Amino acid sequence: MELKGKTAVVTGSSRGIGKAIALKLADLGANIVLNSTPASDAIDAVEKEIREKGVKALTIKCNVGCFKEVQEMFETISKNFDSIDILVNNAGITKDNLLIRMSEEDWNEVIDTNLKSVFNCAKAAAKYMIKQKSGKIINISSVSGLVGAPGQANYSSAKAGMIGFTKAAAKELASRGITVNAVAPGFIESRMTDKLSDALKEEYMRNIPLKRFGTPDDVANLTAFLASDKSNYLTGQVIHIDGGMVM
Ligand SMILES: NC(=O)c1ccc[n+]([C@@H]2O[C@H](COP(=O)([O-])OP(=O)(O)OC[C@H]3O[C@@H](n4cnc5c(N)ncnc54)[C@H](OP(=O)(O)O)[C@@H]3O)[C@@H](O)[C@H]2O)c1
Repeated sequence: MELKGKTAVVTGSSRGIGKAIALKLADLGANIVLNSTPASDAIDAVEKEIREKGVKALTIKCNVGCFKEVQEMFETISKNFDSIDILVNNAGITKDNLLIRMSEEDWNEVIDTNLKSVFNCAKAAAKYMIKQKSGKIINISSVSGLVGAPGQANYSSAKAGMIGFTKAAAKELASRGITVNAVAPGFIESRMTDKLSDALKEEYMRNIPLKRFGTPDDVANLTAFLASDKSNYLTGQVIHIDGGMVM
């Protein structure tokens, strides 16, 4: 697989899965636009690591849940790169609570960060991809969006919404040479899953036929395939990467 000369935007790439995806795409030769919230200081080290691979890197810190900030982000990207070829909608958060205890604020924040961000970024990127007549959009959903998870009414709704979005956008953009696919990871070792209790981790493990948690690299390898020409005949799909947890 080769991505030389392509430009990839990876949201939420300061750590975890997004960082692994950004590094993998850079290994394959893509120039990388990194993104995190304005509060992140970890992303500067990621930018350095990417530059050391001999590709261009640009960091734009903004809240991807905010329409205006995302519009500005893509204007900056278009001024710095000749094309926008790959968009990975990876930024995400959890704010778990039982439905009856979940605040409106936690519902809104999770929906905006995980789902509205996908609309914001894909709408902005599609403008450039349509002109180029090519593009790859990859949405990092979750098994929670497929089967639901207790305590995650907000997160499961957002991740399920991403799947509906993926299929609608895939149908709309196919004639323009743009593919849109979703990846549904299971339990992947990252800061997001570090905070879960040991009891919950054991319960997840019992339901994973491959008997290990996934790594950010597992997700990055699949995303790299979806970002490459090797996946050109694949669109509107949701690919599970979960050690067999959901089948
Ligand atoms: N880990 C899993 O088991 C798992 C399973 C299924 C799906 N996923 C999905 O995979 C994606 C990555 O998860 P992860 O485990 O790598 O999470 P993580 O380690 O918590 O990283 C989340 C990333 O998103 C960024 N982010 C959060 N809110 C943002 C915002 N409003 N605007 C821009 N960036 C924002 C964070 O930036 P800061 O550094 O600024 O906070 C960070 O770079 C998420 O969409 C998650 O839902 C994860």
